[in-house]
Amino acid sequence: MKTSTLSLMLLSGLFLLSSCIHDRVDVEVKYYTDEEYEVLKTALNLPSNLHEYNFTMPNAGFVPGISNSKATLGRVLFYDKKLSRTNSVSCASCHKQELGFSDDKARSIGFDGAETKRNSLALASVANFETSYNGGNSFVGINTRLGFLWDERAQSIHELSQIAITDPVEMGMNMSELAVKLNQDEHYSILFRKAYGDPQITPNRITEAIQEFVNSFISVDSKFDRGTFNALENLGRSLFMVNCATCHSSDMTNPVMAVANNGLELNYADKGVGGVTNKPNDMDVFKVPFLRNIALTAPYMHDGRFATLEEVVEHYNSGIQMHPNLHNFLKHPHNPTQPKRLNLSSQEKAALVAFLRTLTDETFIAEVKFSDPFK
Ligand code: HEC
Ligand code: HEC
Repeated sequence: MKTSTLSLMLLSGLFLLSSCIHDRVDVEVKYYTDEEYEVLKTALNLPSNLHEYNFTMPNAGFVPGISNSKATLGRVLFYDKKLSRTNSVSCASCHKQELGFSDDKARSIGFDGAETKRNSLALASVANFETSYNGGNSFVGINTRLGFLWDERAQSIHELSQIAITDPVEMGMNMSELAVKLNQDEHYSILFRKAYGDPQITPNRITEAIQEFVNSFISVDSKFDRGTFNALENLGRSLFMVNCATCHSSDMTNPVMAVANNGLELNYADKGVGGVTNKPNDMDVFKVPFLRNIALTAPYMHDGRFATLEEVVEHYNSGIQMHPNLHNFLKHPHNPTQPKRLNLSSQEKAALVAFLRTLTDETFIAEVKFSDPFK
């Protein structure tokens, strides 16, 4: 082969290669057409390309499975007040990112000003993902499936989102009316088409997209995860591992106990799991909450009765009531007719609180991809 032919081939090869690279870059940058992006820009602050909603877990590596286009749609829906009958509350009204996706009120305010029956739950944990993703069985290491809500009556965020949207206090909407209402916004035809291939808005797509977004809320960047404790936090950590981890878990992923009664009082106004199952053993029993970002999610317990972590620690130290369904872990170790008393010194109580504060994840609450996209 003549040298000139060879160099010509090389040259054209290079040319082809560079145009390929060029094409790829073009495709990546132009996720939306200019026209679509102009429409989106009138109402929303979305990046011209998709955020990555899949994540890397410390023990499991990169976990694929979230559709970035559905999560992007879910993000817009999560922050859209149109999901409520009076266009006044969104999911984010009661689940605020800066508070670990919880609310600072004991009872949240719904679409027509009425109060919710219970304290809003924080949405920041690995467990949210593990329990709901693909029906709860596609993730490494899952053996038990935990439910959602204080009485665990929802099995997935898909199901739960419909409960929240149609709840007579929370959002007061009807799913098919909602689909019609969202159809009036041009940006939704683009976002639904990008996520589902066609612009049709259905109740099922709405709640599935929200689930995709909420499932990507993974908090793994707290001081606790880095393991850099000071002396006081270390003392708190040992106290926690002995007295609390048996229910709340030692690695802050799935709680060890799904539900329990923790002796807040003898007579509960709210029956918790028992209100759903009507079984005597379930009366006044509630979900064991995840403790990630707990310093941000006051007030505490299903009714928001404790304003501070100090009050919570004092409850476990000296306030547990001998309720008939009180969990064994909270009974006196030698006399099960009596509640456990920890008799902690003031330094030990401060240590437990200091340890709970190491669960705050500043990265998570500042993540742009989880923030309000509306202008
Ligand atoms: C008016 C306030 C309010 C609105 C609006 C609201 N929530 Fe909630 N959310 C709550 C309260 C209160 C609870 C606890 C209720 C219970 O357990 O009975 C809760 C619980 C949850 C939980 C359960 C978490 C767990 O660990 O079990 C999830 C998930 C959730 N909400 C997601 C959403 C989504 C998604 C939306 C929007 C579609 C939404 N919420 C709208 C107040 C609200
Ligand atoms: C027997 C299981 C169990 C043990 C042991 C236990 N807890 Fe709990 N914890 C629960 C349950 C159940 C709730 C929710 C109760 C309710 O709201 O009615 C709860 C609620 C909490 C809350 C409030 C969470 C929120 O989102 O409002 C904190 C904080 C907490 N526990 C910390 C601790 C600490 C610290 C210890 C150890 C001193 C401890 N727990 C031991 C079961 C347990």
